[in-house]
Amino acid sequence: MSLTATIEFQGKKYEFPVTEGTEGEMGIDIKTLRGASGLVTLDPGYKNTGSCESAITFLDGEKGILRYRGYSIEELAEHADFLEVAYLLIFGELPNKEQLEKFDADIKAESHVDEEMKKILDGFPKSAHPMGVLSSLTSALIAFNPSAVDVSSEEKMYTSIVRILAKFPVLVAWAMRKKMGLPLDYGDDSLGYVENIHKMMFKRPNQEYKRNPLVIEALDKLLILHADHEQNCSTSTVRIVGSSHAGLFASLSAGISALWGPLHGGANQAVLEMLEAIQEDGGDTKKYMAKAKDKNDPFRLMGFGHRVYKNFDPRARIIKKSADEVLGDLGIDDPILDIAKGLEKEALEDKYFVDRKLYPNVDFYSGIIYRALGIPVEMFTVMFALGRLPGWIAQWREMRLKKEPIGRPRQIYTGENHRSFKKINER
Ligand code: SDX
Repeated sequence: MSLTATIEFQGKKYEFPVTEGTEGEMGIDIKTLRGASGLVTLDPGYKNTGSCESAITFLDGEKGILRYRGYSIEELAEHADFLEVAYLLIFGELPNKEQLEKFDADIKAESHVDEEMKKILDGFPKSAHPMGVLSSLTSALIAFNPSAVDVSSEEKMYTSIVRILAKFPVLVAWAMRKKMGLPLDYGDDSLGYVENIHKMMFKRPNQEYKRNPLVIEALDKLLILHADHEQNCSTSTVRIVGSSHAGLFASLSAGISALWGPLHGGANQAVLEMLEAIQEDGGDTKKYMAKAKDKNDPFRLMGFGHRVYKNFDPRARIIKKSADEVLGDLGIDDPILDIAKGLEKEALEDKYFVDRKLYPNVDFYSGIIYRALGIPVEMFTVMFALGRLPGWIAQWREMRLKKEPIGRPRQIYTGENHRSFKKINER
């Protein structure tokens, strides 16, 4: 029996079909609303509005569930590696051995970035934020890969996908090395995907690269945990830019800019800066809790709260556990971790946070691990983008293959009614 919903307005009833997802989520399909009633909906921030049907990632914010293509984030973080998860998100199934080996080889074959790109990087001052550099370099890649993705050809779509999966880590490493005053290097195809990224980021010109499996494992897990998160701000940006049939690289560049914001992916950098400020302030967490609750103070407890999760962010649980393991394995005693745990305990017992269902999110503990891995704080959100890349690609591909219409929301106009022009001497 097909589900419907009825809206009654000015004495007239309008019936709409209700779409039910495979996990029981329901959405009123209002495609005909304006034509039938003259009404539009109003929902700033799209808190109640679904933009699409998607088969990639499922979230249950009340239960704290996150699954990529049906597999739980806990199992993937425990048993998979990042390249497998990238393949799963983009193509819908975990790869078998041959498929994974081919994927890896195809990516390696595309890992060269045109030397001319270094001239663009040279144009940035060292003080430039790496997210701005990365967004620009990603867009600049179009100039060296001009043919827009022919989405009607699975083969051409595949080539574009492996191309950006191969070149993006090089751009990430170059953005970091520019900031650190290190020469710009290329990858080492003899290494695994994540280890190659780590080597490109950290290899010193005058030293042998020291392989540390614990560090690579921790980085791989962090990238998996950031790989997709359904219709978040940056993914919705990638989708809406791609819906105009702008290319994949241009859409990704826009997504990077959206992720940069401190309310979104930029929160991981803001969390570390907040924790360092608390540490400098003698560890006075109560002062910062009071600031976070003061409506006259713009300060927010960064790393807390989430649009969807009204329970623990499952990724935060995994990252918190991993932070203890990584710092323990590396023999690092970072007081910032203790401050974070103290802040979390206080917030989880505080009425303001409990009433608003504000829990630690993915960004609350991730920076502590990045710092332990020697990643500069301004690179934290770049690491988020590196992890989110396969998710953005998967969502862009799904949107284009489904031939979704161009995204163009409506509005309610609240400005001046019609008025006639006045000459300047009449104003
Ligand atoms: C990410 O969407 C995704 O999936 C994102 C992400 C992904 O993987 O892509 O999960 C990654 O972006 C995680 C979020 C990282 N951002 C932060 O940690 C920044 C701090 N958090 C907030 O700014 C906020 O919680 C948001 C932006 C995350 C969510 O904001 P909402 O859903 O718009 O909620 P809201 O701003 O309307 O807040 C509801 C209430 C308000 O109080 P009242 O007006 O009801 O009295 O909760 C308060 C807010 O003031 N509140 C906070 C708070 N977060 C919300 N108060 C203090 N500190 C906070 N962190």
